[in-house]
Amino acid sequence: MAEAQDHNRETRLPEAEIERQRGIMDQIAANGVGKYWINTYGCQMNVRDSQTLAGMLEGMGYEKAAEQRQADLILFNTCCVRENAERRVFGNVGHLQALKKERPNLIVGVCGCMMQQDGSAERLLSSAPFVSLVFGTHNLYRFPELLQGALKGERLVAIEGDPQGVIAEGLPAQREGNSRAFVNIMFGCNNFCSYCIVPFVRGRERSRAMGDILREIEGLSAQGIKEVTLLGQNVNSYAPEGGGSFPKLLKSLEGLVPRLRFMTSHPKDLSDELIEAMASSKTVCPQLHLPVQAGSNAILQAMNRGYTREKYLGLVEKLRDAMPEIGLSTDFIAGFPGETESDFAQTLDLCAKSRFDSAFTFIYSRRSGTKAAKMEGQIPSEIQHERLSRLIALQEGITAEKLRAMEGKEYELLIEEPSRRSKQDFMGRTGSGIAVNLHGEGLRPGDFARAKMVASGANTLRGELISE
Ligand code: SAH
Ligand code: SF4
Ligand code: F3S
Repeated sequence: MAEAQDHNRETRLPEAEIERQRGIMDQIAANGVGKYWINTYGCQMNVRDSQTLAGMLEGMGYEKAAEQRQADLILFNTCCVRENAERRVFGNVGHLQALKKERPNLIVGVCGCMMQQDGSAERLLSSAPFVSLVFGTHNLYRFPELLQGALKGERLVAIEGDPQGVIAEGLPAQREGNSRAFVNIMFGCNNFCSYCIVPFVRGRERSRAMGDILREIEGLSAQGIKEVTLLGQNVNSYAPEGGGSFPKLLKSLEGLVPRLRFMTSHPKDLSDELIEAMASSKTVCPQLHLPVQAGSNAILQAMNRGYTREKYLGLVEKLRDAMPEIGLSTDFIAGFPGETESDFAQTLDLCAKSRFDSAFTFIYSRRSGTKAAKMEGQIPSEIQHERLSRLIALQEGITAEKLRAMEGKEYELLIEEPSRRSKQDFMGRTGSGIAVNLHGEGLRPGDFARAKMVASGANTLRGELISE
């Protein structure tokens, strides 16, 4: 059955196939190439996939263009988790029609989650006939071969693939910046939350071997990477062939880089062992993104989330007992089918009780093929929007209060990219994940700095460097 978990099957793509793709990369590089541009939509998984695409492109001799209109190859790495993400892709691909007329040799390709969805590739190709390359998440590793076809003038669609999915080790990656990096630990999702399209477009769960992850992070550490974020749709179900668990993985990565984060964690199987592993680690940051989605048990059940509000609130308490400084964030969906005013009041209540540092709030979006799309009681858009705005207002107040409470305290920050305003204005992050703006002569991204919080805003703090 498609939903069954089977962690013992062979999921690793044969090395010979990767070699074949490398051979094609060399052939393309030998023929002289041009500039590329990638538009990325959606979550960190897609950001990481785009880094693989960029890595392959650079391996083929392509250079990143200064702007989209100068590129010879433009890719859209798409998301379909909500309808508005899809609408934007259709709009932005459509805008390229004029450029393609001006420059007939331009190759426009569309890939990612949306292309893996039933019927989407056909819809896109009929609305944007100038697109010559389409591939889904299951065919990412075949990009060199597909691009070679497109360069010969073929129109290619590669969206087939076993939903069980494979793991392709050893693909190149071109990461932006040199202090922080995303590392996949698993792919796919088996949870089938009733509203969610991800299991349909990303396939079943499969975990990378601990040794492969370890080697990748050792390599990143040798390059000077200071912070690694481990990625998976539900890292708590990390279960590699040959044994291992997520807490064990965290322990084995201890000390490899100064800071380790991960996302996303599913409340239904957040174990005491994991809380313990986080609390006792010097490497794992005191930060957790723990999507709750809703605060009413009836809605949580209809969403197939596998936990109750009581269980969730219990987890929040345990996490704060173990790590008083933990930064907690969440996701909420407002206006799920059948959500009554009293269900929604329970969501507001859970939000108030949990006192999240921040929350991503979404309006329920009907995704065809999911169980919730067929449910009765779909909520009218005005009610959805009105509920969303009440939730946002509540969370904004809590976020501001929590930031204000940090004023006067000192934190160690990892300095991220310089601000746009000036070369000496930086943003750094606390271990708990809060963004702090500060002025610092001679600072560089990747530095650690201690700072005292002097003011707070809606989402960020202002800090002053403490000289050692
Ligand atoms: N695997 C992660 C998140 C994946 S999608 C997890 O389970 O936490 C990121 C967020 O998008 C989800 O947490 C959910 O809040 C939101 N989302 C997913 N499907 C949605 C839909 N159909 N409508 C609105 N929001 C949705
Ligand atoms: Fe979607 Fe649920 Fe899987 Fe997250 S856990 S990706 S919300 S099905
Ligand atoms: Fe979107 Fe795919 Fe991520 S649907 S949220 S990009 S897994």
